[in-house]
Amino acid sequence: MIRFICTKDYDDMSRKAANIIGSLIVSKPNCVLGLATGSTPIGAYARLVEGYENGDLDFSAVKSVNLDEYRGLTHDNDQSYYYFMNHHLFSKVNIDKNNTYVPDGTIADAEEACKQYDEIVASMGGVDLQLLGMGHNGHIGFNEPNDVFVKGTNCVNLAQSTIDANARFFEKKEDVPTQAYTMGIQTIMNAKKILVVVNGEGKADIVEKAFFGDVTPQVPASILQFHPDVIVVGDEAAFSKIKNRL
Ligand code: F6R
Repeated sequence: MIRFICTKDYDDMSRKAANIIGSLIVSKPNCVLGLATGSTPIGAYARLVEGYENGDLDFSAVKSVNLDEYRGLTHDNDQSYYYFMNHHLFSKVNIDKNNTYVPDGTIADAEEACKQYDEIVASMGGVDLQLLGMGHNGHIGFNEPNDVFVKGTNCVNLAQSTIDANARFFEKKEDVPTQAYTMGIQTIMNAKKILVVVNGEGKADIVEKAFFGDVTPQVPASILQFHPDVIVVGDEAAFSKIKNRL
């Protein structure tokens, strides 16, 4: 079942998403969070940091598993998702770094990297809440449009549109990663609750396709229609094509 929360703007979306995550941390201090990177959740992470700073949120028993990582990027590369998570959240709250996991992009052997990450996620005993952003092509994690829904952690060739969208973050075109390790669709779907954040007019078409169109691996996020507990928090612009159906 999907519930939609339409918010005024990016700040409103970020605050409401952070409130949902924060209320879980309060009610279940040792919860397992599935986390995402990308530009959309940055505001929500900032609100969570505020919650920690003002004494409302205690991350000391929280565990986290991230969705994805670029293959080949080292932890100190400021474009790696490892770096992103430390920068936006982990270094700013009292989470135990030993309880935070991001797929290891430095493991060259893709099969081994994916196997290791599946074992880590399994050892968590279930993700309580998975935070997701959504690509313009409907990708979740880095599960790109495909002929099938890939179940477990996998090494993907990024879609050209994704490589192009990421190019702005790298000095040279050659430095833009072309592959990534990502949690699979089944792993994402196994989370007890899923929180999707979307903002901006650019996401309006894919929001309509993913949540009101056919369920197909060509639009990976459409699988969320089959999950029992999804909340999509979006701003008015991202919801502009679905507002009459809410
Ligand atoms: C990031 C991730 C991606 C992003 C998606 C949207 O960990 O899994 O699926 O959520 O590319 O990115 P933004 O938020 O930058 O539009």
